[in-house]
Amino acid sequence: MSTAGIHAGWTRADTHRALTPPIYASSAYAQTSHSSLRALFERRADGFAYSRSGNPTTEVLEQRITALEGGIGAIAVASGQAATTIALCALAAPGGHVVASSRLYGGTTELLDDTLADLGVTTTVADPWDLEAWEAAFTPHTRAAIVESIANPGAQLLDLDALTAIAHAHDVPVIVDSTLASPALYRPGDHGADVVVHSATKYLCGHGTTIAGLIVDTGRFDPRRCPERWERLTTRNRRFGVTFADEYARGGSGLLAYARAKYVTDLGATLPATSAQQILVGIETLDLRLRKISTDATTLAGRLAAAGEVAEVHHPSLPGRPDRHLVARDFPRGTSGVFSIDLHGGEDAAAAFCDALELWSLAVNLGDARSLVCHPASTTHSHLTPAQREACGVSEGTVRLSVGLEDLEDLWGDLSRGLDAARAVLPEARAVPA
Ligand SMILES: Cc1ncc(COP(=O)(O)O)c(C=O)c1O
Repeated sequence: MSTAGIHAGWTRADTHRALTPPIYASSAYAQTSHSSLRALFERRADGFAYSRSGNPTTEVLEQRITALEGGIGAIAVASGQAATTIALCALAAPGGHVVASSRLYGGTTELLDDTLADLGVTTTVADPWDLEAWEAAFTPHTRAAIVESIANPGAQLLDLDALTAIAHAHDVPVIVDSTLASPALYRPGDHGADVVVHSATKYLCGHGTTIAGLIVDTGRFDPRRCPERWERLTTRNRRFGVTFADEYARGGSGLLAYARAKYVTDLGATLPATSAQQILVGIETLDLRLRKISTDATTLAGRLAAAGEVAEVHHPSLPGRPDRHLVARDFPRGTSGVFSIDLHGGEDAAAAFCDALELWSLAVNLGDARSLVCHPASTTHSHLTPAQREACGVSEGTVRLSVGLEDLEDLWGDLSRGLDAARAVLPEARAVPA
């Protein structure tokens, strides 16, 4: 993991043998002849024509994440949101059915509920901890299932081997948003996932500088097993003049070739080369960062669980969590720096807690080197219905924490200041001893 994070995808193949992959800031690429450009457009040759659909720096990032996830290919896109949108569209649009975990990032729930619903994609939401409900959600029209390997913001884990076995029995590929885990902690492909998406904005970047997304094909999905179901991939595409599923015979991904040719190019959700390089630099320290961050988060979660101001801590290491057994089984390297707490006193206590912090920043991001907090009910999950918020463990008193790389005791000192402020707003009758 640490070695691939630094070397995969880059062989110093440029003129100057640059050690760090250089930024190819070029919109287009001069061709040697009319026929070579024609060959690119007819998909008879590999190469770069125009950076909306491919760029040499971005390609290094695609190869690196492919190696880290143990996949057969990847595409880099403009954001994590673009990655989820394109993965879902490539499998389920138009008019397909999706089975979605009840615990997803708010933006994914909104995407399914609103924008993809406008395109005729229907969704059934199921609790991934309830395998019977999960199984019952599949229909003959289901084209994709989507879950998060570590759910944002409650850090719930799931038995992906069991969930993918059910989906595959229905010939349905499973997309795993593995943003919080990153390949440093968990490889969804090793547990049956077909497609992995990342908001590379978070841990892969690691320093809060860049918005980026990645889609990885783990090599499990093969539309040729059910050609009528995946007609768009298994029959000749009139527009592009190829059958995308033929890519599999060459060891590539037909699904990603289709997603890049159609969705990345049509929607223009391209990742800039400068952003790709920022993510490549971030990945070099991913393994190291995630080790410290996960350990510190577990320590802080344990201390917060003992604090009287906190009604509940949502962290999988804690007693009583139904997913606790999965920590040792599937997440021996840790469960990331993201978890949430429910404060007694609802939004008033959450606001007092957040406002009192000096070291932790109030910001709607995660995976930064800096420690961050946010109040999901009024931000990332604010457009959801109360029932949707409840299903993913978000209440008015929930605060999401994203532990950064600062000193553990400095972080705890600041959280203690926040807890004092949260206690101060509790009515006398409910006041809890310090
Ligand atoms: C789990 C998860 N997936 C996807 C996204 C969307 O990523 P981006 O902000 O890079 O578009 C986020 C953003 O917070 C996220 O937390």
